[in-house]
Amino acid sequence: MERRAPRPSSPKWPGGDARRSIALGLPSPLAPAYNPSFLDLSSTEGRVKRIKAIYPGSFDPPTNGHLDLIERGSKIFDELVVAILRNPEKDPLFSVADRRKMLEAMTSGLDNVSVDTFAGLTVDYALRVEARAILRGIRAISDYEYELQMALMNRKLQPGLETVFMMPAEKYSYISSRLVREVAQLGGSIECLVPDLVERKLREKMDVALKFENGEQPAGKTRSEGKSKSRKKKA
Ligand code: PNS
Repeated sequence: MERRAPRPSSPKWPGGDARRSIALGLPSPLAPAYNPSFLDLSSTEGRVKRIKAIYPGSFDPPTNGHLDLIERGSKIFDELVVAILRNPEKDPLFSVADRRKMLEAMTSGLDNVSVDTFAGLTVDYALRVEARAILRGIRAISDYEYELQMALMNRKLQPGLETVFMMPAEKYSYISSRLVREVAQLGGSIECLVPDLVERKLREKMDVALKFENGEQPAGKTRSEGKSKSRKKKA
């Protein structure tokens, strides 16, 4: 009886090993050795270009979602500037100075992160500080359209500047500054939505507002001054 030549147990070509590895769920011998340090971009050793990015936003107030994104961005970029927009047309809950202080405290443990403020076009600011990328967060599909529009407009204005989207952790995907403000203003719990110091600042604001509603005199103001301001704001 004619005997069939036995199949070589180890194929001569590397692809054979690769197929076997894939079937067994092992790392492919064709793939470069798994090297976790490759993923650690916090080290700039051996790299020439330092990549600076800005993370622009209103941050009114900064949330745990923002912080999550800042932490992720700080691992990818050599330098990350959290850039608070100074927008005179908006009536923010927190002043730019307060937001800056909160963000500085929140990011004090991240060596390559700084906080700044800017007015005007984001792309102009990015060029001024020599950033090569704009970091933005996308929480859900609903964010996508607005973010895409903004990214494409920014690309039109400044083609050399890239927008990089990152996703915050799922547990933060429903958090927005607007909802945090609303919940806090209506007396709901904002625990776990914002860092402790932001929660304290929000509570302080709400206490002041409550005292104000009850006709108490806000610190440093006469009662009539306070009331006229309240009327002006509501109009
Ligand atoms: O946190 P926000 O409010 O979503 O941030 C929006 C922000 C500040 C990134 C955006 O409004 C902006 O870039 N404003 C600066 C003015 C500008 O560059 N406008 C053109 C954007 S396409």
